[in-house]
Amino acid sequence: MRLVLVGPPGAGKGTQAEFIASTLSVPKISTGDIFRANVSQGTPLGLEAKRYMDSGGLVPDEVTINMVRDRLAEPDAADGFLLDGFPRTVPQATALDKMLADAGTALDLVLELVVDNDEVIRRLSGRRTCHNCGKIWHVEFDPPTKEGVCDRCNGSLYQRDDDKPETIAERLRVYERDTAPLADYYGAQNKLVGIDATGPVEDVTARAIDALRSYG
Ligand code: AP5
Ligand code: ZN
Repeated sequence: MRLVLVGPPGAGKGTQAEFIASTLSVPKISTGDIFRANVSQGTPLGLEAKRYMDSGGLVPDEVTINMVRDRLAEPDAADGFLLDGFPRTVPQATALDKMLADAGTALDLVLELVVDNDEVIRRLSGRRTCHNCGKIWHVEFDPPTKEGVCDRCNGSLYQRDDDKPETIAERLRVYERDTAPLADYYGAQNKLVGIDATGPVEDVTARAIDALRSYG
């Protein structure tokens, strides 16, 4: 299955992507994770991306599209994938459609996680991520047993640089302006399915899997 997960910053895309991808046995491809890995390795791509990420803006389409094209060409993505955080602009969506059409395939479904801004702000302000395995925690909604330490691998947890209040506000503005129009783009293709992303993580996962079953 070829899937895209969209939703505002902090909607729970990364959290749900992990469960959904393992349920479907497809690779999870997160552009945010790829950029952050490049930032921490200090690659030229990371240095360029960091300028945009730190201010809450988007990395330019051309850079992002080329990166995704390379990633989708890897063998593990040949039979399906779950894209998390891409596309995020209409030009990126158009480029993805073209990439897949050139390969003789197409997207199956776009799952939109729907949550309001107040919940997003609560989720982002308390998010902590494991340095070692990338597992996402929340100080209040999904706290690890020991503060600052990942239960899964014992790695230390960190707060993302872009989870500061002023950067969160800018990310939400950018989402409304550049990413929200994707709902119309995919709605017109009859591929958009919105699910309520509030409530416990397991409930959201169950709604997502149900939606995939009924449309898949
Ligand atoms: P990216 O990493 O994609 O950030 P984002 O879209 O802002 O999304 P987040 O990762 O912040 O949130 P999420 O929806 O994954 O939520 P999570 O599961 O962590 O991108 C970062 C930056 O990279 C961008 O700003 C941009 O600069 C650049 N970039 C990336 N892709 C790009 C592209 N295509 N084009 C251009 N630039 C790009 O959950 C959040 C918190 O909530 C966690 O603490 C979690 O534990 C908690 N939580 C999750 N679910 C629940 C629940 N049901 N109940 C309570 N708490 C919950
Ligand atoms: Zn860990």
